Amino acid sequence: MLKFGLTSCERTGAIRLSMADTCHGQAKWAKAAISTGSSWTARTEVEMQFETAALWPDVETVRSIDGILRDQWLLDFQPDVGLISVKFPDTEGLLQRYDEAHARAAQKAGPGGDVDERELFRLLAHPGLFAFAASARRHYILDGVALAIGVLRRFQLAGPVLDVGCHIGASTNVLGKLTSSRIVGLDPVGAAIDSARKMSSGLPNVEFVRAMLPWKSETHFDLVFCQDVLHHVPQTSHPKLIASLGELVREGGFLLLSAIDVIDPAWLERNRTTFQQARLGYFDCDVLGGYGGNPATFLGATAVLLRKGDNTPIPDDLASISTREWDAHFKDYANDPKTPAREKTQAFERATRAR
Ligand SMILES: C[S@@+](CC[C@H](N)C(=O)[O-])C[C@H]1O[C@@H](n2cnc3c(N)ncnc32)[C@H](O)[C@@H]1O
Repeated sequence: MLKFGLTSCERTGAIRLSMADTCHGQAKWAKAAISTGSSWTARTEVEMQFETAALWPDVETVRSIDGILRDQWLLDFQPDVGLISVKFPDTEGLLQRYDEAHARAAQKAGPGGDVDERELFRLLAHPGLFAFAASARRHYILDGVALAIGVLRRFQLAGPVLDVGCHIGASTNVLGKLTSSRIVGLDPVGAAIDSARKMSSGLPNVEFVRAMLPWKSETHFDLVFCQDVLHHVPQTSHPKLIASLGELVREGGFLLLSAIDVIDPAWLERNRTTFQQARLGYFDCDVLGGYGGNPATFLGATAVLLRKGDNTPIPDDLASISTREWDAHFKDYANDPKTPAREKTQAFERATRAR
């Protein structure tokens, strides 16, 4: 039997939401300690009526994403250990190697130091180990892909999409399946790109490049999607990564950025000029995540939508902007006993409420 205990690739401390009590085994929502979310955001006359919920796709699409993640990628609300063992019998042996590599990397980094995760990402390129570990992040991946699809639809973007730091291409694959856009996945880990190519081999609109930011490309993308990458890179490199992201987005296109750092006002202050020089202006923000992880709890992460060609700064108070939204909508939805546990994510709530 596989054991539980992987910690890497799980989000560490982005937004933790406290729970008051439990009811019939379901966590009851109490209060968002820190969270981010939505506001009315007006950029032009046409967009005066724009509301964040309109960014999200319909519930059928969200269910399709959930289904692909579960059936193809074995990313489930809780990992299906039996199924993973049957499909990938060598996963169990890898778990120990992974744990050892994790301990070595943490020891080398020392307390508070930057952990070199390259070996960990190489090991996680095995689809069984990935399924086992990344099920804890299923709700973020699900919501991130849903929001990316929502943005493509909302702005009728038909040009190429870049999935930066795609690892073995789970989000790239789902984007490729549910849109007709050309989707390019980018990651520096060779083993991850090899797995990504195998896992998406039947998708003619999906391709993978082994490279890292900063990256030069002749293609400028309608949407650059960058989820959970920045906080895996030392902060001193962030300005050049942000500059590169800006170069990769086409004029008028979007960057959808989810990273722990964006709710840190000091980080925003340090990188304000870089965003300005990259001509990436704030358009909106929302929360990814909800109920999930192992053991399941409520956790959310900030996603910021930036538009190329604008210079509106990212607000310092992203956290409080969206706390309102969590409190206003998500807690009631998540506490409703009729809401299935796997659907207690922001994408499902938005999709259900927006219709
Ligand atoms: C936690 S994984 C996130 C994978 C995926 N985006 C998701 O959210 O499921 C972080 C990925 O970022 C990649 N990465 C690290 N540094 C990078 C860089 N400079 N440019 C692009 N990708 C990078 C790593 O190789 C790793 O696959």
